[in-house]
Amino acid sequence: MPSTIKVEIKRQSNPDASAITEKFEIPYRPNMNITSLLGEIALNPVDVSGRATTPITYDSNCLEEICGSCAMLINGKATMACSALVDKLTGPNKDQTITLAPLSKFPVVRDLAVDRSVLFENLKKVKAWVPIDGSYDLGPGPRQAPQIQEQRYPLSNCISCTICMEVCPQFNDATGFVGAATIAQAKLFNMDPSGSVLKEERLRALATGKRVSFAHGLADAEIVGFLTRAMALVHPTPVDAAGSAGANELLGLAPIEAMACGCPVIASAVASLPEIVTDGVDGLLVPPNDPPAIAGAILRLRADDALWRRLSLAARRTVEARFTWDAVVARCLEAYAA
Ligand code: SF4
Ligand code: FES
Repeated sequence: MPSTIKVEIKRQSNPDASAITEKFEIPYRPNMNITSLLGEIALNPVDVSGRATTPITYDSNCLEEICGSCAMLINGKATMACSALVDKLTGPNKDQTITLAPLSKFPVVRDLAVDRSVLFENLKKVKAWVPIDGSYDLGPGPRQAPQIQEQRYPLSNCISCTICMEVCPQFNDATGFVGAATIAQAKLFNMDPSGSVLKEERLRALATGKRVSFAHGLADAEIVGFLTRAMALVHPTPVDAAGSAGANELLGLAPIEAMACGCPVIASAVASLPEIVTDGVDGLLVPPNDPPAIAGAILRLRADDALWRRLSLAARRTVEARFTWDAVVARCLEAYAA
């Protein structure tokens, strides 16, 4: 076991100061983590050359990976300091220097403490809450299907550590992307039976500045107008860990309406959808929970006019052959007779 741990820490005395690096050698104790190592420095703030310095500023609270406040760059990787074990950070011979630096996508407050209020501002924008007045007893909330609970539970575990924002290349000043944590919370509250009253406001907030429009309460003629002008109807259906779409997809009326208008459908290959769309014949099927596959199908359709024409004509023919009332009644009679 080493007798000391070598650590280099990127420091900054205030938001406008230049960053410097200070080096320390801390007496080794088994089972130290990064927050206990920073505590040792606070007890005796002297650098490796014997020069007196100040304790390192950093955020922490729960010390058990619950509050999310202690995220920082440890050996260049965004990590929670309270659960980062020194023994795992010093290399196979336990002699490597550990480096600590503040998260790089957020303004430095001091040393390893950063201002992560952008996340909380984004959560306010998407109204990541259930809008109820808690001053009186409303009784138990609406029941939720176990499948929905299973989807919501992991989303409810977000601890606002901002690591997903730190590591995401799309989270930067140029894109305006809010980051995975905000989208996950919008989804969590949109799936809540009470929270879903703000569903559209949340989606509109996420779509701000993007070429997305919301069409609600349209008359039938307006829907037909949209579908006859659209290149495709994208109809993604998510599935849970067991591969089930739950109650999300019983028939798929929207794809049938689009196909009746000669609008090719890009749908997930789950539940009832493969019974409506035949891949490559009258539409395109993609694997569920696979956004890149959807993007690929859209680009394929856009690039291949002959394919689009073939799918469009076949889509209309499929509806005429299988989904008119006459066709449905005939199939029912056939089934009863069999
Ligand atoms: S979603 Fe992002 S902010 Fe939330 S816990 Fe995961 S990494 Fe941290
Ligand atoms: S101190 Fe709370 S997550 Fe590390």
